[in-house]
Amino acid sequence: MTNRLDLYKCNICGNVVEVVLSGEGELVCCGENMEHLEIANHTGDEAVHKPVIEIKEDEKTVRVGMMPHVMENKHYIQFIEVISDDNKYVKRKYLTPEDKEAVLTFKCECKEGIKARELCNIHGLWAN
Ligand SMILES: [Fe+2]
Repeated sequence: MTNRLDLYKCNICGNVVEVVLSGEGELVCCGENMEHLEIANHTGDEAVHKPVIEIKEDEKTVRVGMMPHVMENKHYIQFIEVISDDNKYVKRKYLTPEDKEAVLTFKCECKEGIKARELCNIHGLWAN
């Protein structure tokens, strides 16, 4: 059984998938069950991983970390996602090590409220 917007990772090939519509089955890749990615909660890394949402009138910015996260070939933020509180709307920005900063800026009225999450290739999934 999966839930909408859950993220899963294959620990063999590195595939990461997001559930668009949930179903009863288990997700399998490379012949093994995929790992359900849980929100990280280990202490010590929050300052550079936890997404921070800044709101200026109708423009919103999601920045990864109170302190900037490194964007290097071996260690970087793979994507930032903004999800409405009712889980109906999703906005995602893919990042590469060439991006100097892990940041997503967008415009929306977002009356229902928003939450943000990001995936670090080393330290996993983080949410605000
Ligand atoms: Fe990291």
